[in-house]
Amino acid sequence: MAARLASAPVRKQLTFVHQGGLPEDADVHFICVGTPWASAGLDHGPVAAVLSDLFAMAARRGRPVLAAIRSTVDVLAVESILENLKRQYPAARVVLVQNPEFLREASAIQDFLNPPFIIAGSYTGEEGVDRVLEAFQPIPGSRFRTTARGAAMLKLACNAFHATKVAFANEVAHACDWAGIPAEEVFDMFIQDHSLNCSEKYLRPGFAFGGSCLPKDLRALIGLLERTGTGALLLRGVLASNDGVIEQMCGRIVAAGVSRPALLGLTFKTGTADLRDSPYLRLAQQLVDQGLSLRIFDPDLGRETLPRTLADSPRVHLCVSPQEALAGADSIILAKLPAGLQEELQQRREQGHPVFDLERRLVPVPSDRSTTAA
Ligand SMILES: NC(=O)c1ccc[n+]([C@@H]2O[C@H](COP(=O)([O-])OP(=O)(O)OC[C@H]3O[C@@H](n4cnc5c(N)ncnc54)[C@H](O)[C@@H]3O)[C@@H](O)[C@H]2O)c1
Repeated sequence: MAARLASAPVRKQLTFVHQGGLPEDADVHFICVGTPWASAGLDHGPVAAVLSDLFAMAARRGRPVLAAIRSTVDVLAVESILENLKRQYPAARVVLVQNPEFLREASAIQDFLNPPFIIAGSYTGEEGVDRVLEAFQPIPGSRFRTTARGAAMLKLACNAFHATKVAFANEVAHACDWAGIPAEEVFDMFIQDHSLNCSEKYLRPGFAFGGSCLPKDLRALIGLLERTGTGALLLRGVLASNDGVIEQMCGRIVAAGVSRPALLGLTFKTGTADLRDSPYLRLAQQLVDQGLSLRIFDPDLGRETLPRTLADSPRVHLCVSPQEALAGADSIILAKLPAGLQEELQQRREQGHPVFDLERRLVPVPSDRSTTAA
């Protein structure tokens, strides 16, 4: 590291400090201190100590100080540290940016010089973001500008995803071992699929998964793992999490106090009449069980394909057009976007009409928190 820094074109432009004594004249202070796991969350003690020194310096100098947190943090905890320091040093101006690090230990330099992207999000509007990004000027990669919360969340999401991948591979490998199949061979093939497995497919937040294959095959693998005597903890958790998405949405709709929603979409995918394990169908059933009346429109659906519990219910009205479903409805549950209706639905949402946008197809508005999927 020392040899690399000595020969680096940035030499003399970087000063490293391993404890107190911050350089007074730095353009940007990068905070890379540890945030180890403590009993109830990340320990932000070292971050708080550096921020306190920065506020004291800013107060003393009477000039703003720019700092970027590279450490992985719980952004809400940092926000509350900031609030306390602002009260303690009312005259100090510290522009703070969250600028997480996406490197791996043991290949840190290589990863730092070839990051997947460089992201910066300010704790105070957009202040400081560009200046922090400029500091990375020779390094390649996309630049993302966001909020401090967005930047910190992206970092946590990335590491949680990596951890989930490891746990997934280990759980499947256990099933392979039990069945006498070389797991390495299975994963050598698995990772060749850049179309579905290692790609952006299935990596968009939306509503619960369903259909005739995913839930069934997931249950099949869980069943196999249970025969090995292991708990299939991750895969069972996936099923439980998916059920939770439907239950939470049902809870939100009921809690919103609506009684006659229009449900746009019922079969599990546009262009198919397949209702097997449709998450929208499960949601519809739960809502009817809760006493709501549904005005359902789905161009892919015929009345004869509705399950008896819904078809025979006086609280279910199957509509022949989206307009008929919307007429008389007090809210909208948007599962599948009917052709030509996006603008109208967006407008209704912006006018404050309750629109439960299951697949996040509309542009969010500030009041949406209670109406998007979990
Ligand atoms: N290690 C990684 O590969 C990696 C990758 C990405 C993100 N991160 C994140 O970066 C942060 C640091 O991780 P780490 O593994 O380098 O931690 P670390 O504990 O190894 O290093 C922290 C450093 O901060 C210094 N320090 C502590 N208090 C200080 C102060 N008041 N002033 C100046 N320096 C001070 C310590 O002397 C130490 O050198 C963590 O939030 C971690 O989650 C680490």
